[in-house]
Amino acid sequence: MMKIIALATLCAYVAAATVYVGTWAESIYVLDFDESSGSINLRSQLNVGHWPSYVVLDPNGKTLYTVNEDETFRGQPKTGGLLSYSISEDGKSLTPINAFVSNGTAPCFLDVSRDSNHLLVANYGGSTFVTAKLRDGKIVNVTQVIKNTGRGPNPDRQEAPHPHQLTFDPTNRFAYGCDLGLDRVFFFTFDHSNNKLVPNVNQAYLSTAPGSGPRHIAFHPRLPIVYLTHELDSTVSTLKFDQKKGIFSSPVQTLSMLPSGVDPKSCSGAEVRVSPDGLFVYTSNRGVSNTITVYKVNQNDGSLSLVGFQEAAGEFPRFFLIDETGRWLIVSNQNSDNVIVFRRDSVTGMLSKVSSVEGIKKPTALALKL
Ligand SMILES: *[C@@H]1O[C@H](CO)[C@@H](O)[C@H](O)[C@H]1NC(C)=O
Ligand SMILES: *[C@@H]1O[C@H](CO)[C@@H](O)[C@H](O)[C@H]1NC(C)=O
Repeated sequence: MMKIIALATLCAYVAAATVYVGTWAESIYVLDFDESSGSINLRSQLNVGHWPSYVVLDPNGKTLYTVNEDETFRGQPKTGGLLSYSISEDGKSLTPINAFVSNGTAPCFLDVSRDSNHLLVANYGGSTFVTAKLRDGKIVNVTQVIKNTGRGPNPDRQEAPHPHQLTFDPTNRFAYGCDLGLDRVFFFTFDHSNNKLVPNVNQAYLSTAPGSGPRHIAFHPRLPIVYLTHELDSTVSTLKFDQKKGIFSSPVQTLSMLPSGVDPKSCSGAEVRVSPDGLFVYTSNRGVSNTITVYKVNQNDGSLSLVGFQEAAGEFPRFFLIDETGRWLIVSNQNSDNVIVFRRDSVTGMLSKVSSVEGIKKPTALALKL
């Protein structure tokens, strides 16, 4: 008993962070993450309904939002669900606050405004971009539904619009919507008083290469540059970000994310992140090559050069994040049921595996609370 108490006391002094895992199963998992050693361990699991495939923290750290990536939600047809959970002071337990329809099937991505008042939703199946009003962690109302129309050249994946991301820029004046089905990135300004997206008057969208399937963007922390991954051709583009107008340029550079010789049709590109120091960019590949691609950022123009590849230590690295210190990169491998922690070398950018948790059913997304 003495020993246990001593250990618990010690733990309070260690940097004890929490990782929340969204899944293509029925649970959100809560993991203990030790920021000093990189070790990660399962703490608990909470049933939250069908496919809580995305998780996002309110910037105030008090609420976790997730989805039910589904076709019907609590008896309502043709919609998925939005759910909010209040986070205990120590980060370790989640208590339901409320839920709301997502106004479109298969919600797959969420973002919360810096002031905690607005939620952005991408409904992959329902072809809709949605905004919702938040108050003290409660989803108060869905206030806008933008329905996309059209299709792309890929008959299997682009038979309809498929929004895959809707996210604020760091200033929250603008928002961006990647539609994988339409090969478009939509440009919006965000009307905070009316909780609404307004098509950007300078330019409404950017067309990406036909059949490329734009999935996710990441902003450089200092340079006026955005990186865009394309799921269907496994490429990453470097775009100039006009911070006055809120629009992106056509790609100044597009690179394959795959090791040479790997057929792009055998893989799908997924996540993209920039290291907090702005020196490296990381992307993930799923399929025949389950890898994280490491790029160095040219500090003059934001262009990328390949540094190398890191095996994901599992299958289908759908998502990963980098902690705020830049020391750790944490990956969720959807098809091998594991979450892996890599140490990041801040000089070379390369990764080395330090710990993992097995038995996490179909992990699809991660959120880290310090
Ligand atoms: C919810 O938002 C819709 C669309 O903007 C609006 O018509 C409705 O009045 C709102 N409901 C509440 C309770 O605020
Ligand atoms: C969202 O869906 C609900 C239920 O179908 C509907 O009543 C509401 O009008 C929709 N909201 C908007 C803003 O279209």
